[in-house]
Amino acid sequence: MEDKITSIVTDDRIDEILHLNATKEELITILNYIIMDYKKFSMTDKILLQSQKLQKLTLEECIENRHVFLFLPGVKNSMDIKSQKEVRYTYEPKEGKILKEKYRNGRKTESTEVTYEQINKMLGSFNQSTGAFLSSKPNFAESRFIAPLLPQEEVSKREKVQVKGGQMQFVQIPRKNKPPFKNYTAEEVQKHNKPGDVWTVLNGKVYDISLYLDYHPGGVEKLMLGAGKDCTKLFNQFHSWVNGHAFLEQDYIGNLKY
Ligand code: HEM
Repeated sequence: MEDKITSIVTDDRIDEILHLNATKEELITILNYIIMDYKKFSMTDKILLQSQKLQKLTLEECIENRHVFLFLPGVKNSMDIKSQKEVRYTYEPKEGKILKEKYRNGRKTESTEVTYEQINKMLGSFNQSTGAFLSSKPNFAESRFIAPLLPQEEVSKREKVQVKGGQMQFVQIPRKNKPPFKNYTAEEVQKHNKPGDVWTVLNGKVYDISLYLDYHPGGVEKLMLGAGKDCTKLFNQFHSWVNGHAFLEQDYIGNLKY
């Protein structure tokens, strides 16, 4: 186990837990500490931990993995492990303590030591102060709000369908009855999931894709998989290089509130 590392990956930050001589319990404590940091920062408990194969992981399973992807609702989800993240934290267990170091754009900016007792104390008071909120809200990140990925065979087909018109024609259609531009909750977005009234979320932005359905080169069926959901991951699975916002600019109706 000595040289094993578990990396918790998000879009702009990576947390690396060095296993060294730590016990399983100690590694889970460090993991909980990282998760608490995200919860505090993003003010949500709606956190999802997944493997590279996008399987949901328990805390125990997380530390068996080399890469763990942490997803937050309404935030760009990144599965990119190759490029350097803006912020990197490392946690090195040493003689019953943890050496925590922070790097910003590759340069070390902080170095602190924390004990497991300190972390457990912080976790205790954090859970106490937010426990009521945590249990009262359904976890939409874990539920049906994030459109699930499709099997790789489906992606490899790269099937294009006959559409009503080209992308240039689509952008010229006059838009009527646009909903007010505001922040929408996941619950509100979820209601718009039927042909004629379809919304989706891409990179935290809410789009009314009712009109686009007939113009999507990948077809209505595929696009409907993101109806009333966050389709960011699915979108990136098929064509991360497509500038979705450029096509849907006129149908951008607000941002996801979380
Ligand atoms: C919400 C926003 C979306 C927009 C704006 C969008 C836009 C596009 C565009 C512009 C293309 C043509 C790409 C090219 O010619 O290279 C395309 C193709 C395609 N899209 Fe989407 N798409 C969206 C969502 C999705 C989703 C959620 C899926 C899958 C479930 C999907 C599956 C496909 C497929 C299979 C193709 C055809 C194959 C290919 O061109 O690579 N798209 N899409």
